[in-house]
Amino acid sequence: MKVLVTGAAGLLGTDVWSVFSQGHEVTAMGRTHPPHVPLSQWRTCDLRDAAQTYKTVTRENPDLIVHCASYNDVDGAESNPDEAFRVNALGARHLALACQRFDTALMAVSTDYVFDGTLAPEDGYRECDATHPLSVYAQSKRWGELFVEQLLHKYFIVRTSWLFGPARPTYADKVVEWARAGQPVPCLTDMCSVPTYTPDLARALQRLAESGLYGLVHLTNGGFCTRVELAREILRMHGLPESRLKPMTQADFKHPAKRPVFSCLQNMVWRLNGFTPLRSWKDALREHFSATLHSR
Ligand SMILES: NC(=O)c1ccc[n+]([C@@H]2O[C@H](COP(=O)([O-])OP(=O)(O)OC[C@H]3O[C@@H](n4cnc5c(N)ncnc54)[C@H](OP(=O)(O)O)[C@@H]3O)[C@@H](O)[C@H]2O)c1
Repeated sequence: MKVLVTGAAGLLGTDVWSVFSQGHEVTAMGRTHPPHVPLSQWRTCDLRDAAQTYKTVTRENPDLIVHCASYNDVDGAESNPDEAFRVNALGARHLALACQRFDTALMAVSTDYVFDGTLAPEDGYRECDATHPLSVYAQSKRWGELFVEQLLHKYFIVRTSWLFGPARPTYADKVVEWARAGQPVPCLTDMCSVPTYTPDLARALQRLAESGLYGLVHLTNGGFCTRVELAREILRMHGLPESRLKPMTQADFKHPAKRPVFSCLQNMVWRLNGFTPLRSWKDALREHFSATLHSR
């Protein structure tokens, strides 16, 4: 397959780039050239620009676009909604319009934040559950989903949550840094979701893409936890004292953007399609730390 990746410099896109490069002809498009992408396979393009996006995609004429690019500043979006909507909603529309020309499939990555966290079934949100985004970021991602659904019939929308992985440090890595520096580890008692390991997700995206089973799919590692449980597990793995934990609520934090309290995603469509569930978040976390922390 000829595959075009957006956001190849990012946390997920870096792993998508390397996983899809094994067995497919891959090109990346975006604003900032990432060093791991050879220049011959790089196309400079800002997704906010409709004409540039159309030109880049139709020139490449890929079979599939894996769309990992996103405006991800959840709090920043509250004071800069235009930018969030430009990238996450209109950017997705620009890609979808370009995909129409040669019937290219689009795999767009989205978020658990499209749910408000109040009406989840006990074991997490299913693909058939109603969305209700609480923040500007979440609205912009949902709007992007709608453009993709409305403009294409060959699309995958993949919602995921709480990413961590080797491409850049995330909350999981910061927990270790804070604790090792003797600092308190802030962790929310009222946020529960599924930490998801980007190499696992990238491999699952590849399996999904090759299946041609289009539509909306929730994809995360197995299990779920609060931020406190996540931080506690990380400290336990590293033999660091639990006394460093500083449990807080969203109200204590005073984040500009509201986050869902419970946004765990059931991987129902994935499971019903007969795919093997992704391993538990704890097993993935163990691999992450064996691969990254010792080399830092
Ligand atoms: N991170 C999480 O915990 C999380 C949770 C749930 C869902 N997701 C979803 O997973 C996907 C990947 O997230 P991530 O955390 O891997 O992202 P990330 O590390 O923040 O990377 C985002 C990428 O998007 C690119 N980008 C931003 N604006 C662009 C534009 N106008 N034109 C072209 N490229 C642009 C950035 O390139 P530049 O460097 O050039 O700006 C960057 O490479 C997103 O759809 C996100 O919503 C993430």
